[in-house]
Amino acid sequence: MSIDMLTIPAQCVAESRISELDYNNIEFGKIFSDHMLVADYKDGKWQNPQILPYGNMSLSPATSALHYGQSIFEGMKAYKDANGDLLLFRPLDNFRRLNKSAERMCMPAITEDIFMQGLEQLLKLDAAWVPPTSGCALYIRPFMFATDEFIGVRPSSNYRFTVFTCPVGAYYGQPLKVAIEPQYVRSAEGGAGFAKAAGNYGAALLPARNMQERGYHQLIWTDAKEHKFIEESGTMNLMFVIDGKLITPPVSTTILAGITRDSVLTLAKDLGYTVEERKVSVDELEEAYKAGKLQEAFGTGTAATIAQIATIHYNGQDMHLPVVEEREISNRIANELDKIKTGQAPDKHNWVHRISL
Ligand code: COI
Repeated sequence: MSIDMLTIPAQCVAESRISELDYNNIEFGKIFSDHMLVADYKDGKWQNPQILPYGNMSLSPATSALHYGQSIFEGMKAYKDANGDLLLFRPLDNFRRLNKSAERMCMPAITEDIFMQGLEQLLKLDAAWVPPTSGCALYIRPFMFATDEFIGVRPSSNYRFTVFTCPVGAYYGQPLKVAIEPQYVRSAEGGAGFAKAAGNYGAALLPARNMQERGYHQLIWTDAKEHKFIEESGTMNLMFVIDGKLITPPVSTTILAGITRDSVLTLAKDLGYTVEERKVSVDELEEAYKAGKLQEAFGTGTAATIAQIATIHYNGQDMHLPVVEEREISNRIANELDKIKTGQAPDKHNWVHRISL
């Protein structure tokens, strides 16, 4: 079915909850827009896409996703431009990545028409929930989970795909203190670290909490074999500026291929900076720090956008980075990216999907 031919039936709310939203005081992930998209996979195909009032779902206690973790998700954002049009940032990249995660988790691919048409219709209905406020956005959470009522371990035959949205402010409220993880592992070669699978996040909670109890906001994962090379951090890819060059670990089977990561690298090249995608060792960071060459460190992610790192802890020592205001590359790129996403700068890479109301 082509995108044009699909019109998803909608059951709209009798009364919007929008008056509960204070545009000037939005916390991440706590308030949800009026509607959600739901589609079910059964008998080998996606069926019955519909838009419903946002609300609870009824599930059997034997729902297989709850037991064996066939559950994947995406995170994307929409903004409003000066004319009130909605601007979705790189939705097709999220669509493709969701299907890569689905393949790894032995789940069916969602179709482009349900994903894109569903998003368009959902966003048009809930356009008032897209905050016009600077630094805020509508966060969009597509996800898919296994719905077989069966507790034998096997790939489910039935799945649910859902998209809900929530207006959000900043994910991290301040420059981060992070610590390099010397013991736990997020992902190993051949595992599912590149997939946005729910279990990857669940397994990260204990090590992250341990670091938080020691006074750090997040941890930096290192490679599974030697704990020698930097991987990613919490919900973000990582980037460093060493001696004027923007350096980031390459994506691999253990690292999520971040869409913000790719956008930042593309803009950095456009702006004429030297970009290196290569392994970064903990030793290299320490040496650069001691030589005064570790100029910037930051995380990139949809929720986090560009999150500055103030301090990196390793082996009993804190490395304190230059103040955020002095960081040329990350500040310049963050500003440029923000302008593209909100329609204030030309979109020469065709990243923005416009929805006119
Ligand atoms: C995102 O950046 O969209 C993420 O997936 C992080 C999320 C777990 C809050």
